[in-house]
Amino acid sequence: MGYPLHRPRRTRQSDAWRRMVRETRLTLDSLIYPLFAVPGRGVKNPISSMPGIAQLSVDEAVKEARAVSAAGIPAVLLFAAPAQKDAKASAALDPKGLAAQAISAIKDACPQLIVWADVCLCGSTDHGHCGHVTPKGQIENDSSVETLAQVALNYARAGADAVAPSDMMDGRILAMRNLLDREGHAATPIVSYAAKFASSFYGPFREAAESAPAFGDRRSYQMDSANSREALREVLLDVEEGADMVMVKPAGAYLDIIRQVRDAVNLPVVAYQVSGEFSLIKAGAERGWIDEKAAALETLTAIKRAGADLIITYFAPKMAEWLAG
Ligand code: PBG
Repeated sequence: MGYPLHRPRRTRQSDAWRRMVRETRLTLDSLIYPLFAVPGRGVKNPISSMPGIAQLSVDEAVKEARAVSAAGIPAVLLFAAPAQKDAKASAALDPKGLAAQAISAIKDACPQLIVWADVCLCGSTDHGHCGHVTPKGQIENDSSVETLAQVALNYARAGADAVAPSDMMDGRILAMRNLLDREGHAATPIVSYAAKFASSFYGPFREAAESAPAFGDRRSYQMDSANSREALREVLLDVEEGADMVMVKPAGAYLDIIRQVRDAVNLPVVAYQVSGEFSLIKAGAERGWIDEKAAALETLTAIKRAGADLIITYFAPKMAEWLAG
């Protein structure tokens, strides 16, 4: 009963047919654009490994936020690289610190734009790790969780619409939820970087966020890329602890994980197309080896098809252009 009765090409004959039978659609509604805040005024410091992306002082970040919001992107994810870096991550805890300033300035200028605040210690610690370090050079879980919860509270107080912990410490979602609730922020969602893998694709980001670890690597807290059952375990723990959304990161090399998570939970699933995924396409396009728009659309469609409801991507402003025609 196969060919010649069945000819799948019949509904592939023209653009109109292909549009009608398309199963996955990209819309701006599902995109989140990362922003990198740095100190100063009028600063637009291009990140060499991420063409088109820059570190921005708060005033410039506000301009960029206005522009992406006007282009129809519903949300940004804010990272801060403060000048002051110390063992305690003081800048992240400071109500007048760089991240808090950027959050409140963006919310003042564009109240309708959703601001997710990345919660981590790596951008504000002198050692660049995502948690506190013991004298022996180990990353201490429970004290880090306490600090991370305080950082989340600081960002919620500054006006963040959601906090997004990216540290991968155990138990941080519950600790954050408890503290936020106790302090009057029961309505602030937690977007958990639930299955975050130790990945070579974060390289360019570490330049942008000034967060490369000074010693060692992140493999004692981020996941081993070989593990999918463990990814589900991480995700289900965060759901139990009260996460409102769960994230898989990176996206492109982890499409199987995105699908498994989508099938296992009823929460929105977020995928992060990380810096290296973006930069590889950019670099290939600069050499004329690959078509930037086609590759971006194809990878983002694949992430959506795998089961992501929302995608964090550096292509968001470009997508606004491309989808507008
Ligand atoms: C830090 C953090 C990283 C990213 C988001 N938050 C880097 C890392 O874990 O080293 C990566 C984002 C990207 O590569 O675009 N907690």
